[in-house]
Amino acid sequence: MKAVPYGSVEYWSSRYDDEERDKPGGGFEWYPGADDIVVDLLSKLGGYDDGFEALEIGSGSSELAAKLAASFAGSHVILSDFAENVVHRMRERLGGKDLEFHVVDCCRMAYRDGAFDLVVDKGTLDAVDCGDDDGARTSCLAEVRRVLSVEKGIYVLVSCREPSWRRRDFGELFEEVLVEEIRAEGTAKSCPADHFLYVLRRK
Ligand SMILES: C[S@@+](CC[C@H](N)C(=O)[O-])C[C@H]1O[C@@H](n2cnc3c(N)ncnc32)[C@H](O)[C@@H]1O
Repeated sequence: MKAVPYGSVEYWSSRYDDEERDKPGGGFEWYPGADDIVVDLLSKLGGYDDGFEALEIGSGSSELAAKLAASFAGSHVILSDFAENVVHRMRERLGGKDLEFHVVDCCRMAYRDGAFDLVVDKGTLDAVDCGDDDGARTSCLAEVRRVLSVEKGIYVLVSCREPSWRRRDFGELFEEVLVEEIRAEGTAKSCPADHFLYVLRRK
């Protein structure tokens, strides 16, 4: 077991039960402020006036998927996580807002090839990195690439890992459209202070 158990579904399920007990109906936003930055970025990138098919992997109790659905009319957004309890709670909290809720391990997804225009990941690849399975990061990235549309698919990743680290992971899978450092103002407990926004396309 690695020092930080963020790759374990048991860890996250128990954490989300604690979260619900301590703050019923509340949530926890990793890399706070980055959710709004992602929504702004997509508005600026353009090309989404007719909506998009989007998947957020490892959504946890973040509001990002709901903000995407609210900001881009006609879009279809799937909120997903491998922790079943948080997906069910998010369905209770946000159901009926143009969202779907799926229990999904992002390293083994059942979606068809090219199903999504957009895959969003805020802190999930960072969590996958902490698992005991050293191949999990590669599986996650290969799966994200597979489910992205060849023509216009983009992967928006918010990660605490700097470009020199992440570029080794992207390798032959992704090319960079944009990389920006996000300087966090007030960061929540256990969130790294600074992180990076990556916009990637399939190679
Ligand atoms: C650091 S939290 C980020 C949560 C949320 N995206 C946010 O920004 O607040 C990582 C999330 O990834 C989920 N996760 C970790 N490994 C996963 C996997 N293999 N498949 C799906 N979700 C996973 C965890 O359950 C947790 O909700």
